[in-house]
Amino acid sequence: MALQRDMAREEFVERLKFEFTETEKVILQRRSVRLYKKEQVPEFMVKRMLEAGRFAPSAGNSQPWKFVVVRDPQLIDGMTKTTVDLCKFFRATTDYTRPGFGWMRPSVKFFTRLLPNDLHPVPFGAVSLIAQGKLSVWHGAPTVILIFKDVRGVSNPDLDCGIAGQNMVLAAHSMGLGTCWVGFARTAFEYAAKWRRYFGIEFPFKFANSLAVGWPKGKPDGMVERQTHAVDWYESGQRRTIY
Ligand SMILES: Cc1cc2nc3c(=O)[nH]c(=O)nc-3n(C[C@H](O)[C@H](O)[C@H](O)COP(=O)(O)O)c2cc1C
Repeated sequence: MALQRDMAREEFVERLKFEFTETEKVILQRRSVRLYKKEQVPEFMVKRMLEAGRFAPSAGNSQPWKFVVVRDPQLIDGMTKTTVDLCKFFRATTDYTRPGFGWMRPSVKFFTRLLPNDLHPVPFGAVSLIAQGKLSVWHGAPTVILIFKDVRGVSNPDLDCGIAGQNMVLAAHSMGLGTCWVGFARTAFEYAAKWRRYFGIEFPFKFANSLAVGWPKGKPDGMVERQTHAVDWYESGQRRTIY
């Protein structure tokens, strides 16, 4: 019996040299979708995504998350409006790249040191685009999943929420749905009380991230380039670097 199992494994491992598994295909083929059909996605599919999120590992099995599903267009539009209004405010107070606003540069650079993640060039650029209506928030997706973290979670609740969210993203892709992480929505929850109040979000919960979910419209964009990071590999008393 054990011999049979070993043979089956050897055969399987041999096949792996030439084929990706279904899970690997889902991971490698997933793309962020930023164009959706208006048609709503079936409720049971969203529930399947939530179930994939619920089964995510978390430090100490603390499951430090709360998922909120929003499928009312007026609520998604309302949160979008709050985000856009705040981006307009941030653009007015921080965008030194506009002609005539170069004088703001030193103070914004100073704040960049204090808030390196928030004022990283990518969100910094996106604030401007959102404020000018050139970048949408949830990209017209009919379903939005808000992920809130329990700040009392063991170790690093943001990481746990990220793992749960990616489980949902991969489950969605495996069902033919499109998704996009939308971290930008944090603006509407961090810098305004309206939506926290609306959804009853209070201590110990804080916005972690969100997902746009829907049927993809058209073909997804091509693969976004990935850097090849060097990996140090220690084995048999030696170190080598692989790429
Ligand atoms: C935590 C997180 C937050 C993100 N926030 C946004 C966002 O606010 N808006 C957006 O359009 N894309 C957002 N993205 C999507 C990334 O831009 C995208 O994953 C990246 O460019 C790689 O492209 P790919 O997902 O198509 O492989 C986010 C991704 C992650 C993981």
